[in-house]
Amino acid sequence: MRAGVKQDLNDHVRDVLASDLTPGASHLHIFTVRTVSIRGPIPNGPMHPRPLIALLDGRDCSVEMPILKDVATVAFCDAQSTTEIHEKVLNEAVGALMWHSITLTKEDLEKFKSLRVIVRIGSGFDNVDVKAAGEFGIAVCNVPGYGVEEVADSTICLILNLYRRTYWLANMVREGKKVSGPESLREAAAGSARIRGDTLGIVGLGRVGQAVALRAKVFGFNVIFYDPYLPDGVEKSLGITRVYTLQDLLFQSDCVSLHCNLNEHNHHLINDYTIKQMRPGAFLVNTARGGLVDEHALAAALKDGRVRAAALDVHENEPFVLSQTPGGMRYAFPGYPESMNGGGYPFPNPAATVGAMGGVHSTTPHDHPPPVSHGAHPPTPHSTETGNHMSKPESSEVH
Ligand SMILES: NC(=O)c1ccc[n+]([C@@H]2O[C@H](COP(=O)([O-])OP(=O)(O)OC[C@H]3O[C@@H](n4cnc5c(N)ncnc54)[C@H](O)[C@@H]3O)[C@@H](O)[C@H]2O)c1
Repeated sequence: MRAGVKQDLNDHVRDVLASDLTPGASHLHIFTVRTVSIRGPIPNGPMHPRPLIALLDGRDCSVEMPILKDVATVAFCDAQSTTEIHEKVLNEAVGALMWHSITLTKEDLEKFKSLRVIVRIGSGFDNVDVKAAGEFGIAVCNVPGYGVEEVADSTICLILNLYRRTYWLANMVREGKKVSGPESLREAAAGSARIRGDTLGIVGLGRVGQAVALRAKVFGFNVIFYDPYLPDGVEKSLGITRVYTLQDLLFQSDCVSLHCNLNEHNHHLINDYTIKQMRPGAFLVNTARGGLVDEHALAAALKDGRVRAAALDVHENEPFVLSQTPGGMRYAFPGYPESMNGGGYPFPNPAATVGAMGGVHSTTPHDHPPPVSHGAHPPTPHSTETGNHMSKPESSEVH
């Protein structure tokens, strides 16, 4: 939809007066439309009868532009940091639109002299120091419903891929692998895991988490979740199981999917310590925020097979550059020079590969986790869930 509107924007842009404020200000393009506002001009400094709104990063505000064009002057900054933002914008912008590729710390916010409102085009606002914004009297808004269904659909797509290996199987066929007879079919499908009865652990049962839970149930997952901020009873509405510690969730889950917002309390929620609380051979999916996962710890876990495979839609440092990721991650990437298996399923660890060939999704039983404090809620008795801890037969029925 945005692409379609973008065309309109381009047409629109051709019709408007575009001016760089100073020669050489390559990052700043100011588009003004000379129309008469029915509400009259909004005072914003002697030279600007219309308020200045800045799109700080990215170039797409094709949904917003048709609304703004009649009431504001819009500056396209296309910046990755405030050092790239023109002084005029820093001094005069009263509103800022932003995607997620720029971060506004307290020091950054301090540079904006007239700013009154920041709108994150998206739901997560972890790239804005909201507390500092409050101190400066700047309101921060987000778009909470943005992409909920799409992120949930993509999450399910990643989970299904990890289980059913469609991506790797398609690549295998594309690369000319012949599959003839039950043995070669079995070999090609090695590592595919049965979904029904496996436990999907959702961390953060907000909008996206709930949408993922509903979808996952249909595929036969036993869905559990951990979200300490939700009131009691939400699990009953959705017909899923609540656990009251992250540790319990990690201990019970064959696949862990992250859907919490990144905040000052959960940076590197998945780290060396918590990975050890996961079932050996579990899957990890992250479509929330890269900062939730310590990529070095994950790389090590992928390398030694503790985490069987991970699907990451987000990274701590974006844009994602494969050559700059921790070694173990490159190691696990099919086709990457450091990859051990040279293009198949990401089983860099021989033991994990053998386990897969042997036909089980290797979420083997492990010892009870060490005790942790459980806050206000009693711990969920994970030890009763023995069914979850049994090795499952391979689902080799690829028809
Ligand atoms: N990959 C993408 O393109 C994309 C797109 C949209 C949103 N997102 C991200 O997805 C995440 C979820 O979005 P949403 O709309 O569902 O947000 P939401 O605010 O509706 O839900 C987040 C949930 O996480 C819970 N939570 C917070 N900290 C937690 C913790 N430490 N442990 C467990 N639960 C915790 C909150 O209580 C809340 O229920 C956000 O971080 C958002 O930025 C990513």
